[in-house]
Amino acid sequence: MATTSVNDFEILYSRDQIAQRVAELGAQVTRDLNGEKLVMVGVLKGAAPFLADLSRHIEADATFDFVATSSYGHGRQSSGAVKLIKDLDHPIEGKNVLIVEDILDTGLTLSYLRKLFLQQKPKSLRIATLLDKPSRRLEKIEADYIGFSIPNLFVIGYGMDYAEHYRNLPDIRLMPPDHPE
Ligand code: IMP
Ligand code: MG
Repeated sequence: MATTSVNDFEILYSRDQIAQRVAELGAQVTRDLNGEKLVMVGVLKGAAPFLADLSRHIEADATFDFVATSSYGHGRQSSGAVKLIKDLDHPIEGKNVLIVEDILDTGLTLSYLRKLFLQQKPKSLRIATLLDKPSRRLEKIEADYIGFSIPNLFVIGYGMDYAEHYRNLPDIRLMPPDHPE
């Protein structure tokens, strides 16, 4: 029997397409900052590659912080409840904050984080997501910066996982619906 390799999974966005779009988003963020400082808050672990690449296209005095939440446990289904596993290292009161996320899906994660962060009274709070799945939304929330808007597909690569695997793939690929856990 022939074994399927990850290279057989269809590419949705190639590394070149991603790089070009991330550069555009970085320029947008830079313009909107008007020379002010920025705290980039990555949502672990999926947003790590996006944050790293995006940050290099932001011309500003930027610092990094990271939070971790749990929503998807294993596989494709969200548990619904969002829990904070790792909090910010530094207070964000009075700061310009950019939350950086890999995918905005149901919106549960980002609604939770937005509410939590707003309690600290940042100067501004914006959201950058590489991918947006608007059709899946359960909470009313939109990102300020969106890489690509996609239909209801399960994707892997460039930070995004399937049961923790495939995060290191340089391209974004479609996870076949019939792939076993
Ligand atoms: P939300 O709370 O439903 O918006 O979930 C957002 C999180 O779910 C993302 O940060 C991803 O970790 C995960 N997620 C949603 N869709 C996908 C996907 O297609 N592939 C991999 N992870 C996904
Ligand atoms: Mg994630």
